[in-house]
Amino acid sequence: MLEKIREKEMEFVLPTYARVDLAFESGSGAKLLSVDGEEFIDFSSGIGVASLGHGSSIIKDTICLQASKLLHTSNLYHIPPQSECAKKIVELSGYSMKCFFANSGAEANEGAIKIARKYGEVEGRAKRYKVITLENSFHGRTISTLKATAQSSMHNYFGPFPDGFVYAKDIDEIEELLDDHTVAVMIELVQGEGGVQPLDRAQVKALELLLKSKDILLIIDEVQTGVYRTGEFLASQLYDITPDIVTLAKGLGGGVPIGVVMTSKSSVLGHGDHGSTFGGNYLSSSVAIAVLDELERYKQSGLLDEISIYFEQKVHNMYQKHSDLFVEHLGFGLMRGVRVRDAKTLSDIIANAIKYRVLVLKAGRNTLRFLPPLTITKEEIDEGFKRLESALSAL
Ligand SMILES: Cc1ncc(COP(=O)(O)O)c(C=O)c1O
Repeated sequence: MLEKIREKEMEFVLPTYARVDLAFESGSGAKLLSVDGEEFIDFSSGIGVASLGHGSSIIKDTICLQASKLLHTSNLYHIPPQSECAKKIVELSGYSMKCFFANSGAEANEGAIKIARKYGEVEGRAKRYKVITLENSFHGRTISTLKATAQSSMHNYFGPFPDGFVYAKDIDEIEELLDDHTVAVMIELVQGEGGVQPLDRAQVKALELLLKSKDILLIIDEVQTGVYRTGEFLASQLYDITPDIVTLAKGLGGGVPIGVVMTSKSSVLGHGDHGSTFGGNYLSSSVAIAVLDELERYKQSGLLDEISIYFEQKVHNMYQKHSDLFVEHLGFGLMRGVRVRDAKTLSDIIANAIKYRVLVLKAGRNTLRFLPPLTITKEEIDEGFKRLESALSAL
């Protein structure tokens, strides 16, 4: 079975992914069934996307009902679930903002950069266009979000890139880099792809105040941290800040592609300044409403916090037991990372985990990353860590 899938892929799909030699055909909760009939525990949720787990009946019923009525009309017409979804997102954030709907994290960040650039053009005397980002950030794969991603290894080809992206070594260095042309600072509060690296709360708060005093926009990329991944609806709430622009994607659609950029600078973009054929259509926005309703209930019931603490404890036990392999344990909520002593050991751990049928992720050079479904059960957690323990012991 896998052989045929591999052959077809080699013949017809561009080889941009170094894929694990596995394919799945169904899933339920945090369990995935491979095409070869093996059951896996999923501690990755498709890189933080399947927030309600696999095979969610809430998502299935929403899709079926919406598909039987209407999937898409384009943004030429009003889309009732789109504005309902925007209302829900804004209410959950607690910010006074408005939303634009896109289809992915990169696209949401493109929107954020466009809002900032236009703000820099029309507000103030000199044209301001520079966006400062942090080393080891990840903001997407389009030409400008790739350039915003401060990882030089990703800039080897594809140039010339758009001008105006400046990289800070760390949050401390941002102040030195500000000049008359700076319009925004874009950061992840917990760098995801960069290695599950949380920023320091006091430093972020000080940055927020500094930027406000200079009318420089604070863009928080919550593509990975958002939608309850770090315990609150937004990591920005955890950090007690009020950004000017926030982006979301991944867990918002529970597997249906959707991205959002929301901003308090709601009069910057006008008719014709931005658009998307698919963005916020009936399918994606109705599913996002269902996902948000369910996650809001789940958070309010106390279950999300309970399961997050349970998961964290398990990661911590593993980390302590294998202190020869691990050097640090980081993250919030259900976004967890364990720094492995070196990159080779990490790839051995991930390969062994697959042998023992548990899916985990790599982040940065040497971080073992966990992004389980937010609705994972204690039984699934126990089983996953049992398998991981076998994988570690067999190293
Ligand atoms: C923080 C962050 N921003 C942006 C992106 C890009 O999102 P997408 O792959 O949906 O374009 C990612 C994806 O991993 C991400 O983690």
